[in-house]
Amino acid sequence: MKKVIIRKTEEIENWKRNINSDINFIPTMGNLHNGHKKLISTAKNDNSNVNLVSIFINPLQFDNKSDLNNYPKTIDNDIKISFSNGADAIFIPSIEDIYPSNHKNITLLKASAELSSALCGLNRIGHFDGVCTVVNRLLSLIKPKNLYLGEKDWQQLLILKNLVLTKKLNIAIKSVPTQRDFDGIPLSSRNIHLSKKERELIRFFSNELLEAKKNFQQEKKINLREIIRKLSAEKISIEYLEHLHPYTLKKSEVDDNISILAGAIRCGETRLIDHVFLMKRSPIIAIDGPAGSGKSTVTKLIAKKLKLLYLDTGAMYRALSWFLIKENIDYKKEKNLRTILNNVSIVFKSKANSHQDVFINSHCVTEEIRSQEISSIVSTISSIKEIRKFLVAEQRKIGESGGLVAEGRDIGTTVFPDAELKIFLTASIDERAKRRKSDKKSKDSKEMDLNKLKELIKKRDFEDSNREISPLKKANDAIEIITDGYSIDEVVDNIIDLYNDKIPKDIQIQ
Ligand code: PAF
Repeated sequence: MKKVIIRKTEEIENWKRNINSDINFIPTMGNLHNGHKKLISTAKNDNSNVNLVSIFINPLQFDNKSDLNNYPKTIDNDIKISFSNGADAIFIPSIEDIYPSNHKNITLLKASAELSSALCGLNRIGHFDGVCTVVNRLLSLIKPKNLYLGEKDWQQLLILKNLVLTKKLNIAIKSVPTQRDFDGIPLSSRNIHLSKKERELIRFFSNELLEAKKNFQQEKKINLREIIRKLSAEKISIEYLEHLHPYTLKKSEVDDNISILAGAIRCGETRLIDHVFLMKRSPIIAIDGPAGSGKSTVTKLIAKKLKLLYLDTGAMYRALSWFLIKENIDYKKEKNLRTILNNVSIVFKSKANSHQDVFINSHCVTEEIRSQEISSIVSTISSIKEIRKFLVAEQRKIGESGGLVAEGRDIGTTVFPDAELKIFLTASIDERAKRRKSDKKSKDSKEMDLNKLKELIKKRDFEDSNREISPLKKANDAIEIITDGYSIDEVVDNIIDLYNDKIPKDIQIQ
């Protein structure tokens, strides 16, 4: 494809007619550095869409005239960087193009009041309104499928996500983690203005934040005053340093698993921002749903793609059912169930191709637990209070430090009620029966009549949904996905998009 530079808004339409493809859009203000390179190359590697980079220094988002006048302009180099990192086209409009003097094409927007009343919004009056106005103008001209933004400007990212949502723009926002320089400071176009001494100060500031993040992992708490004291001792002029909820930007609560520590400092004429995410444990995805909803296949693929641990809680109930049958334990009457359970150990061992084996007291039971015999008693066994209590505790132990995707029937409601993403996967009875019949793992189902299979599924649903403890139920904050008519890959991609939308990339790569 011929690489093009577009300078007039009217040319956009022409160009779009010729490309015949969806667009990945990467808006910038120029002076491109490695952070921008990462944005452009991520867009290029994500899909086969056409990549359009815009370079436009937006006067509306500068609350300070000298900052606007001093903003670095390096257009020739920016063109080279954009094309060599995957841009197919570069849009370099003039101010008159974006804000025509008759103003009839543009609406001045207000950023979300909630999100812009924190952090940078407190001092940079009108800044986020200017960002929303220009991005909205660019989006309406370009109409991209995907918009790529850096997490470095986390507040801007939240505000633009909110803009896209409230304006129902049907554009996916893809974020790229903060890129840091060799000395830990985040890459920013304004770094160019820093003197050696100022760079030292920002390095101290960024490294304090990175240190706080490391300490938080162990101590699960943060001492803001102490950080402020250390920064002040270095004569660093702090504009703000806040510990907030990462999505609402309200004060962080004690039980927030993920929070953000964000600060802005002044170094001479230059104002710099940085942040880190603080995490008590790594993120958890909870996937609940009835039998045959596709949970296992989907959860396994998600674990593989996102490099998360896969926790199949159903297999734990099945393994225990196998054990109780084998040991001839009358689980309904047994008085010493607790003692028996205390001597049970269930472990998962990964095999190649993201396959997992289940062991109960060292017996590998992966195949055997899929028999109809086990299927017919597992619901009853899993409704026994003592057993549920034991296995929920075991599951929580496995998920203590997070970083996993768990599937089951009570993950979002009971096992991990604080999971970052909760999915309730379901499908019609007809669809689920068809899937069970073609499921290679459940040998008995294959031979069973479809109507009989439907009856069994209904019975299992009834038992699961009506048991006294932890019934199968969609958690209030779970997202329901009905999988009829969707391929496995479509469902997996949908959940991964939801995860990416919710969890900062900075956290995902830890
Ligand atoms: O982050 C930036 O570079 C700018 O705020 C943006 C998104 C290009 C809008 O001018």
